[in-house]
Amino acid sequence: MVHRYRSFLIAAIFLFASFACHAPALRRDRKPSCRDALSFALSQLRRSITEIPAGRFPIRTKAQGAWELTPPETWTSGFYPGCLWLAFRLSGDSSWIQPARMKTGELKEQQFNTGTHDVGFMMMSSYGQAFLLNPNEEDRQNLLQSARSLASRFNSKAGCIQSWNGDFQVIIDNMMNLELLFWASRHGGGPDLHEIAVSHARQTIRNHLREDGGSFHVVVYDTATGLIREKRTAQGYAAGSTWARGQAWGIYGFTMCFRETGDSLYLRTALRMADYFLDHLPEDHVPFWDFNLPEDHPRRVRDASAAAIASSALLELRNDVRDPAPYDRAAERMLGALIDRYLSRGTESSGIIVHAAYNANSRNPDDWDASTIWGDYYFLEALYRYLHRTES
Ligand code: GLY
Repeated sequence: MVHRYRSFLIAAIFLFASFACHAPALRRDRKPSCRDALSFALSQLRRSITEIPAGRFPIRTKAQGAWELTPPETWTSGFYPGCLWLAFRLSGDSSWIQPARMKTGELKEQQFNTGTHDVGFMMMSSYGQAFLLNPNEEDRQNLLQSARSLASRFNSKAGCIQSWNGDFQVIIDNMMNLELLFWASRHGGGPDLHEIAVSHARQTIRNHLREDGGSFHVVVYDTATGLIREKRTAQGYAAGSTWARGQAWGIYGFTMCFRETGDSLYLRTALRMADYFLDHLPEDHVPFWDFNLPEDHPRRVRDASAAAIASSALLELRNDVRDPAPYDRAAERMLGALIDRYLSRGTESSGIIVHAAYNANSRNPDDWDASTIWGDYYFLEALYRYLHRTES
């Protein structure tokens, strides 16, 4: 225990030093004004520590601005501990470690959760971040078991992991969960986990991507033949439309696949998806919830969480291309829009970013327009990547 916290302290000093070293490189007039946004985000998170009870995790805010809380097995449970770890990485303040560690530990049983593909989201944003800061055997084992749970959902006929239960449904979001398999394969889990991730990613390119770089949300497979039964949507506007957050998950997921494999197919796919996303943004750089939403649609709301995910993804993708400037500019514009117009400052929201649409097809208005814990998580990650990027 003492050894663990000594390691944390060393990590804290290292992070603080690295943060301090980067700070002078930032021009004072640089937009967006990350420092101010960061201090607001940290104050929102600080408040949440006393408000969120043990064993419960925020998902999205309700009408009065308080978090809706869920049990640990909900797909979003890892993002809150992840936000606390990011608060530590962004601030260098070691007082974030104890709450981050505590909320992470509340997810321990999820390593055995075989009922959802989202065990990747849940464990990588919590235990994955904890391990990054303080590599240790117990957390490695938790993550390896989590990867085995995820891999148990692989079907060799479909060549994919099953995302949702019932029919064999695969959603574009599932690209995000492959990171756990790649990670586990590199940390003693064996080559099969890597192979499963590669198979899933290749099937996603074949079956979810469209010629124009847009994406289908849901593909349903026949597991007897491996053939596709149907392509449809759940959270998007129409079967053939491009759901904005799904597109953002794709950019992020394929950028991660390129990092993990070095295979240029994934880089090309990430770029195609990014170009589609950026070409379809409205003037304020924050997408509506679907890129093919008709102008007169009665629920024409934004999904700021899609902008947060895409900003973070672009701030990694820019490292993989010869000319990062267009992606830097796009990420900076999105991040700037979130900071200037989508912070929850002055609202009742307990979150950091407002106007995210969990599911605009839902009957519950809280699902159309709220703060979401994943929007906040990827906003903090984007801020971190922005503040720590190397100048081009
Ligand atoms: N399934 C994750 C999401 O709603 O984006």
